[in-house]
Amino acid sequence: MSTTRLGLFSSLICLAFFTNLDANVGERIFSLKVKPILESKCLACHSEKEGKVKGDLDLSSLDKIILGGETSNQILVPGKPEKSLLLKAIQWKDPEYEMPPKENDRLSQEQIEWVKQWINLGAPWPSLKIQTKYLNEERSKLITDEGIIFKTIGGLSDDWTYRRYKPEDIWAFQPLNVVPPLPILPTQLMLSFENL
Ligand code: HEC
Repeated sequence: MSTTRLGLFSSLICLAFFTNLDANVGERIFSLKVKPILESKCLACHSEKEGKVKGDLDLSSLDKIILGGETSNQILVPGKPEKSLLLKAIQWKDPEYEMPPKENDRLSQEQIEWVKQWINLGAPWPSLKIQTKYLNEERSKLITDEGIIFKTIGGLSDDWTYRRYKPEDIWAFQPLNVVPPLPILPTQLMLSFENL
């Protein structure tokens, strides 16, 4: 194989590797971040199974999202967040589409960023089996950037059992103040002692 061919060959391998890596990152973001957002913030109004399909838009599967809604068939354009109405709606950029509609339910900046990244990475929607794999992988790590999981006898739901806590929010992680600071006597008082 000539050097140029070899070069081309290895860059193709690199490309394949990166594309695969991107897809994995996208699948992981979907499983850990985007799906819970859709479930907790959107499906109550946008899922046939839940009983409401507002704006004729069902957000419960990729196929249904791609079908579009009442006014747009560009709800989700994989790889193009700026063209996806879904992103515009959660950013509240267009007064016609502010989602979810209640001010109190608005997504945090961080949640919006996860959705944007997921669309950027091609909006992959892996099977339930793969979603569970990512979820279990994450739950097996006691410490991540998002905090610490405490081993307990289990919560009422997985959300509680696998809830992560920030070390600074937990008293058990705070350094102990073993020696209480000594009281400092006001100078006046000291002086009056000296004068006795
Ligand atoms: C409380 C109910 C409710 C919730 C929750 C809700 N929506 Fe909506 N959505 C609506 C209604 C109603 C419409 C129809 C347009 C309108 O009246 O604003 C709509 C329309 C839309 C549209 C436009 C569809 C089209 O083609 O016209 C998009 C996109 C959308 N919603 C995305 C979302 C996303 C994403 C979420 C979650 C982050 C969400 N919605 C949560 C009620 C809701």
